[in-house]
Amino acid sequence: MSLFDVYPLFDVTPVTANDVYLYDDKGTQYLDLYGGHAVISIGHSHPVYVNALTSQLQKIGFYSNAVQNPIQTKLADRLEAVSGCKNYDLFMCSSGAEANENALKLASFHTNKATVIAFENSFHGRTSACVAATDNPKIVAPINAQQQVRFLPLGDLNLVEITLKSEPICAIIIECIQGVGGLDESITEFYKGLELLCQKYNTVLIADEVQSGFGRTGDFFAFQKHGITPHIISMAKGMGNGFPVGGILIHPSIKASYGLLGTTFGGNHLASTATLAVLDVLESENLMKNAKEMSAYFMEKAKSIPQLKQLKGRGLMLGLEFDFPVAALRKKLLFDHFLFTGSSKNPNLIRILPPLTIKKEHIDLFFKALAQKL
Ligand SMILES: Cc1ncc(COP(=O)(O)O)c(C=O)c1O
Repeated sequence: MSLFDVYPLFDVTPVTANDVYLYDDKGTQYLDLYGGHAVISIGHSHPVYVNALTSQLQKIGFYSNAVQNPIQTKLADRLEAVSGCKNYDLFMCSSGAEANENALKLASFHTNKATVIAFENSFHGRTSACVAATDNPKIVAPINAQQQVRFLPLGDLNLVEITLKSEPICAIIIECIQGVGGLDESITEFYKGLELLCQKYNTVLIADEVQSGFGRTGDFFAFQKHGITPHIISMAKGMGNGFPVGGILIHPSIKASYGLLGTTFGGNHLASTATLAVLDVLESENLMKNAKEMSAYFMEKAKSIPQLKQLKGRGLMLGLEFDFPVAALRKKLLFDHFLFTGSSKNPNLIRILPPLTIKKEHIDLFFKALAQKL
């Protein structure tokens, strides 16, 4: 049987990994500045994570959400403490798309409305409502296109209000820093304005933190820089450091009832254990502080690259924009210098999404290689 051929693959076969490094089947070491698409938060195969998952697996790996799961309850408490998001409820699932799908569904249940506002260049996942809220017609099938979504330019508060006035909107979904779209972010006034407009028009504000959450920007969530309080916060990627975990945090103004949401795998014993281990290491190793410090170092080093048009993003969610397509350059970095980097919808932009454990010496390696290849 063949694999359904949807991924253009690099000819590299990682077989082991440790912290910021991957090792292939020939023993070659690669520096991971991509984190498997912003997933590796606390570093590959972190011993705390490996030990926690191994010992949990020896006790019980899975049971469904039909029984008490104290690990999930403990996780909710720890998440509240580490994120600083007080009084939210936690609902767990297994991926970013699923988190946003549940967020949008909940917004629709809560407001009894159906249309969504999303922003140009957004990416929210590939399932029904969230792919419809993703600004990429190539991945929206006719079955998804039935959803009602209005795409507005990022930053245009006036157009948001005109749209809210003209039709019933259940949710505004936004990535505070766009990931796949290419690291664009608006100003605090815009995010605060969205919060106020959502209150005025009984609309749910959804912060998609699937990529930017769990410390990646140096804050626990990217929206926190703007001092807003979203109704729903969606999470995945760094949450499980590779274990498929997703979830939403739900503001107390949105009430639960039995059967409203549900999933077989979400929040199971292994998934909750993986996320608890991530939180432990984020705290014990001060990784959000490290993200901020390494980000500042990266930005300083970037000044030595005259060909750089713009440096975008914050924390360890960064983009280097050039005035030429970067696909060939990324290939050279990978095959000549053994450096993994990320791409985006913007063909001229290299994305940098390393484990939050990265050190100055790794950033030095990257800039040395980049200078040689430019
Ligand atoms: C901001 C954002 N939301 C949602 C998703 C979808 O997550 P998943 O691929 O886990 O379904 C992604 C994935 O890249 C993302 O970057």
